[in-house]
Amino acid sequence: MNKENNPICKLLGIEYPIIQGGMAWVSGGGLVGAVSAAGGLGVIGSGSMTSELLRHHIRKARSITDRPFAVNVPMMYHRTAETIDIMEEEGVKIIITSAGNPATFTPELKKRGFTVLHVVSSVRQAVKAAQSGVDAVIAEGFEAGGHNGKQETTTMVLTPAVVAAVDIPVVAAGGIASGGAMAAAIALGAVAVQIGSLFIAADESSAHPAFVEEVLKADEGDTMLTLKELSPVRLLKNPFYEQVQEAYKNHATVDELKELLGKGRAREGMLCGNLDKGELEVGQVCMMMKKRMPASEIIKEVIEQYNSTLERIKGMGI
Ligand SMILES: Cc1cc2nc3c(=O)[nH]c(=O)nc-3n(C[C@H](O)[C@H](O)[C@H](O)COP(=O)(O)O)c2cc1C
Repeated sequence: MNKENNPICKLLGIEYPIIQGGMAWVSGGGLVGAVSAAGGLGVIGSGSMTSELLRHHIRKARSITDRPFAVNVPMMYHRTAETIDIMEEEGVKIIITSAGNPATFTPELKKRGFTVLHVVSSVRQAVKAAQSGVDAVIAEGFEAGGHNGKQETTTMVLTPAVVAAVDIPVVAAGGIASGGAMAAAIALGAVAVQIGSLFIAADESSAHPAFVEEVLKADEGDTMLTLKELSPVRLLKNPFYEQVQEAYKNHATVDELKELLGKGRAREGMLCGNLDKGELEVGQVCMMMKKRMPASEIIKEVIEQYNSTLERIKGMGI
């Protein structure tokens, strides 16, 4: 892999075209510092943080590495403008926006010298993001953990469709947990990958150990995209998920679903380890995740598999 030839490595100043997806409750300064130190791009999940906590995690990541890292800002939360100010004060100049209209903040961010990547789950959103002036889009398919699009477009379909629709670099996300999957994404026209779920089980993640155990035990079919009426999210099946399904059977209204979801479910599940009442976000790849390991090992393994996949394909000579 030659980073000089990769537009995302050049844009972000990283060694490998691997972005660790920003994850609320999971990606704090410890994980982010470890990923960036290992040559990927660590991304702080600011969606779950107060402003003071964000500052703390930026400083923590910086104490681990002097390599670049980013902050993910889900724009559905109201503190976006304040978060941008904190990033500027702390000298973090790469922002990954999601869950909101890219036109709202991108022009201002570009004026202030930020590198902006925006997460999309449809071609329509990708075109809108490119028109608003982002530097790259992250196309996140249906397999992904966390919040996702209603369209249910898989990474295999979304990636080439977005590549065809925009003329800025495209990063593929969703269902990528091996170098083979990374090679597939690159073959489809992406220039880098964003990986989330795999890093839940990194030694440095802030996920509660009980949540990580559930992820490592998960099998095929154990996650499902649900709550489409509110904000579609892929969840691990647990008693809370079953409660949601029960509500659907009883034809719950949107307000009833909102009430059932309540506040603080994600924190309860992923940070506090309440496996019954909490929301447990993870992607389909959990069926392939079997053990915890340091973030640096995850990156090393993915890159080794990526290189051996390319060799295997070349060896087939077709
Ligand atoms: C536990 C968890 C929390 C997440 N939180 C966020 C978030 O706060 N903001 C965001 O843009 N994406 C979030 N995501 C999505 C990831 O950044 C990433 O795009 C996704 O996990 C990639 O798919 P994968 O899980 O198949 O690797 C989250 C994903 C997970 C698994």
